[in-house]
Amino acid sequence: MNIKHYGHSCFSFKTQNTEFIVDPFITGNPLAAHVNIKNIKADFILVTHGHQDHILDVVEIAKNTDAKIISNFEIATWFENNGLENLHSMNFGGTYTFQDGTVKMVPALHSSMLPDGSNGGNPAGFIIKSEGNTIYYAGDTGLSMEMELIGRLDQPDLCILPIGDTYTMGVEDAIICSDMVRCNKVIGMHYDSFPQLEIDKEASKRKFAAANKELILMTVEETLVF
Ligand code: NI
Ligand code: MN
Repeated sequence: MNIKHYGHSCFSFKTQNTEFIVDPFITGNPLAAHVNIKNIKADFILVTHGHQDHILDVVEIAKNTDAKIISNFEIATWFENNGLENLHSMNFGGTYTFQDGTVKMVPALHSSMLPDGSNGGNPAGFIIKSEGNTIYYAGDTGLSMEMELIGRLDQPDLCILPIGDTYTMGVEDAIICSDMVRCNKVIGMHYDSFPQLEIDKEASKRKFAAANKELILMTVEETLVF
């Protein structure tokens, strides 16, 4: 699987037959200003919650690619009311099966109002299983006991966790989260995109290393083969 970073919380996952992108926020992110979103390919767009820094480019990518949007019922309905037709709604505990694997929706401890004030349902994360690997994409979340359940049931090979603090977990809680989900390989997200999310990247990596864990911080448009 190829995992490509598009800044903030946006990543694309490319498996043998399928490409999906999660939480596209590219055109509003100064750190991703050089990305041409017209070049992005996707079969699916996964959306964790309704905040602008996770949905800004959903409509444009959906129109360019005809990708199916996978999100909670409220957000899927909102996109439907905004003229999109290729949608799949789900909720916690639900699993969507695609050609190369599955995506399960799990809780996140956050909020989810849509930009126009509409109810964005409950915020989520995703457990992605494909090509023998399990990835936990946490979405925006604080530390939560629900993460113990992920450790019990899924034991991810890789997790993608917010580390920017302020609106989500910071580094210390992300380390505890990785313990709870029983995973020592972490890609960080949701940092540095705004002044209030700036982190000391080297210090953050050292903190993970001190806990015998690896923190991977990808640059925009970097691809990790996993
Ligand atoms: Ni958020
Ligand atoms: Mn956010």
